[in-house]
Amino acid sequence: MTQTIDLTKYDLNFQAPTQEPERQYYFMAKAQNYVAKLTEELKRKPTCCVTTFGCQMNSRDSEKLVGILELVGYEIVDTEQADFVIFNTCTVRDNANQRVYGRLGALKSYKKKHPNMKVALCGCMMQEPTVVKKLKDSYRFVDLIFGTHNIYKFAELLVDTFEKKGMIIDIWEDTDKIVEDLPVERKYPFKSGINIMFGCNNFCSYCIVPYVRGRERSRKPEDIIREIKNLVKEGVVEVMLLGQNVNSYGKNLESPMTFAELLREVEKIEGLQRIRFMTSHPKDLSDELIKVMKESKKICRHLHLPLQSGSTRVLTEMNRRYTKEQYLALADKIRKEIPDISLTTDIIVGFPGETTEDVEETIDVIKKVRYDNAFTFIYSKRTGTPAASMDNQIPEEVVKVNFDKVLKTVQNMAKEQVGRFQGQVMDALVEEVNEQEAGLVTGRLSNNTIVHFPGDVNLVGKIVNVKLEECHGFYYIGKIVE
Ligand code: 5AD
Ligand code: SF4
Repeated sequence: MTQTIDLTKYDLNFQAPTQEPERQYYFMAKAQNYVAKLTEELKRKPTCCVTTFGCQMNSRDSEKLVGILELVGYEIVDTEQADFVIFNTCTVRDNANQRVYGRLGALKSYKKKHPNMKVALCGCMMQEPTVVKKLKDSYRFVDLIFGTHNIYKFAELLVDTFEKKGMIIDIWEDTDKIVEDLPVERKYPFKSGINIMFGCNNFCSYCIVPYVRGRERSRKPEDIIREIKNLVKEGVVEVMLLGQNVNSYGKNLESPMTFAELLREVEKIEGLQRIRFMTSHPKDLSDELIKVMKESKKICRHLHLPLQSGSTRVLTEMNRRYTKEQYLALADKIRKEIPDISLTTDIIVGFPGETTEDVEETIDVIKKVRYDNAFTFIYSKRTGTPAASMDNQIPEEVVKVNFDKVLKTVQNMAKEQVGRFQGQVMDALVEEVNEQEAGLVTGRLSNNTIVHFPGDVNLVGKIVNVKLEECHGFYYIGKIVE
């Protein structure tokens, strides 16, 4: 998809406008000139690679970066041996950070041989002062560093990389700004993520997100609806509403609105066929939301409901603000109201002070809730969070044993749960041609389970009825039925 945005109306002899997003379009026009010059010099389009670490929020941010880069004349490639490489980083767990440093090492040697190459870093990791210091001290070859709050001014920063020498660093501590209507290059033509809110106010004691993504800010419903309507016009049939905590959507709007009310509005959009959302906090999940999901024809039969721990004692230490019993009661209520729903979750093993009994409580919840899938993480100490300074950190060997136990329970449970629809016919959105096996395509059921079945590229982006013939653990093999 190429953008059809006319940048010629921006007169570069004038100063940059102060209003957004016009200001950014002015800088896109300016960047376009620099890229055109570069294209002449290289006798080909300069190439650019955006590598994303982390969650769907970051993926969506990367689509925004790619939208601008494509518009100003870069050719987007998959290889990091490119003229411009951007890492959109994650810092939720330390292994994400380590991967970035590892990949930067490889870029350094490539840049030595290609000195005109540009390297930019953005995303959550850049919001940590210790990271920026390390980059300043030991990674001087990086050209541009920016954060999560000013990603909207990427075009302006891109121009800076052509006009200024040395490392450019622009990090904001927080923002209340939401800039609408910048270009986006979607990865899939038929489905899209939509930010409905940014930031998080929950301060779970292990989590760095509130520090790097700032306070909760909701987009106005009319902006969200307008964006989705435009996407539907372009052929999108499925949207994923994105926020760190979608259940508290709308609380800080001028005219407050609940998430359930927003969903009702999104449901009315003609041509839109599927609605997903991510992520829900159990403490804020309302009866109104369950009712809206139950009555909806479009909201998918899937709810991701992070548990984190099954022990009320650990949950209190985590500042999750629900007990084991409250979580179980909520899961029960959801299953009763929407029996065909799939529940998935996030679990952390090895939180400071976690005992064998606490782990058993988590396993008990997994067995009772019967998750279709669970992402199980080893606790990672994040500097600056309250849990990092708790003095009862768990030794690695103990965590490993507990982690394996939890993972095994999750896997056994998922196998049973996913298989419960065997023999049924369900609708699947075809997402891609199967890369492993010729003649198969891969689709996603409303409940988020994957199904592979015979078909070809013409089916991609279509919703078809599929008979779920064989369950293979986390996925099905099926066939299309009329
Ligand atoms: N260590 C391990 N896992 C974490 N998560 C968030 N912070 C940490 C941490 N410090 C997990 C939580 C969250 C998911 C996105 O990442 O389970 O739901
Ligand atoms: Fe982190 Fe908790 Fe906010 Fe989720 S709800 S982003 S785990 S602080």
